[in-house]
Amino acid sequence: MNKFMLRSSQAPYFRLLTSSGVLSQYKRFLSITTFTMSKPKVLVTRADIPQKALDMLGEKCDLEFWPKNFPMPRDELLKKVSGKDALFCLLTDKVDKELLDAAGPSLRIIGTMSVGHDHLDLSEIKSRGIKVGYTPGVLTDATAELTVALLLATSRRLFEAHGELLNGGWGKCAWSPLWMNGWGLSGSTVGVFGFGRIGQAVVRRLTGFGVKRFIYTSRSPKKEGTELGASHVSFDELLQESDFVVITCALTDETREIFNEDAFAKMKNSAIIVNTARGGVIKQDALIKALKTNQIRAAGLDVMTPEPLPTDHELINTPNCTIIPHIGSAEVTTREGMATLTAANIIAGLENKPMPENLC
Ligand code: NAP
Ligand code: GLV
Repeated sequence: MNKFMLRSSQAPYFRLLTSSGVLSQYKRFLSITTFTMSKPKVLVTRADIPQKALDMLGEKCDLEFWPKNFPMPRDELLKKVSGKDALFCLLTDKVDKELLDAAGPSLRIIGTMSVGHDHLDLSEIKSRGIKVGYTPGVLTDATAELTVALLLATSRRLFEAHGELLNGGWGKCAWSPLWMNGWGLSGSTVGVFGFGRIGQAVVRRLTGFGVKRFIYTSRSPKKEGTELGASHVSFDELLQESDFVVITCALTDETREIFNEDAFAKMKNSAIIVNTARGGVIKQDALIKALKTNQIRAAGLDVMTPEPLPTDHELINTPNCTIIPHIGSAEVTTREGMATLTAANIIAGLENKPMPENLC
């Protein structure tokens, strides 16, 4: 038992006993409870998880936390996962063969607090019979809302305009008719790449903006497309026809760097691309070139490579690129919903019951 292995149910005793200076009694209490209680052991890879989820888990499990608000260093993760029954992880934790070997045969359940699962080696996980829970649905509204916000911030140049306000640019031109002009959605064609939960929710939100045509590319046509008046098209048609390309697909071997030199060459020079899926869907060097040479007009990115992006990265100094730091689902009730769903997935898995949201 080390200092991070305090059961949440023991925390009040710890505070009481240490504050009254009777640490030796606490140690005895620990030694008794360690032998009389046997709860499954769960590693939680961050400290900054909504409390409600930790309370849910703490009632049924022994929790070990990484006590910091940034990802566990890999060597710590490999050490602390050893002998655990379950892992509560985030998209910043790579779960691969090395980690699964380090965990050993006790690891039965993985709960990721994300809908994206490209950080998990699913074939390796499945081959060991480990169950995985994830968080689809609870973050769809927040991420779709953020996608629309990013599209508008990019097309109406909000960050550039704010920069002008701060650097005195506004004072030099006052209300100049040609200054800070952007490009509206009215009469445009919007193309969505990856027409799943979030892609469809984006189209639903954009229906009030006077868009002339919605098109989408997914592996198969969707009945929701017909309901929303959106047409299923080939990838080439999406690239050639769209004024706005919105990327909301999963990152897979098929979609990795699918937006590359060839794709940018097929797009309109006036096109604006928005990515809230994963940075790896875009070949980033090709995007930077396409933006710098005005092969396309602008990009709005919530996701990129690497994350976090170094502050001196070329993308940050590309004026027609609007960048925000992977905040698609960063909304208070959404993050609580993601955390409690992850806890519920883990508890159900440990109790051999069906998980509320089971990935495999
Ligand atoms: P989803 O419902 O599973 O949608 C993913 C879509 O990607 C599916 O419709 C799928 O098409 C499509 N897709 C997969 N492979 C494709 C391919 N080769 N070509 C075209 N389309 C393909 O998932 P979701 O809940 O909408 O989430 C989508 C992604 O958003 C997640 O995987 C995650 O990476 C990302 N995300 C980001 C944030 C953020 O903070 N920025 C937040 C949440 C999620 P089919 O249905 O035809 O298979
Ligand atoms: C966020 O990016 C997620 O996949 O949930």
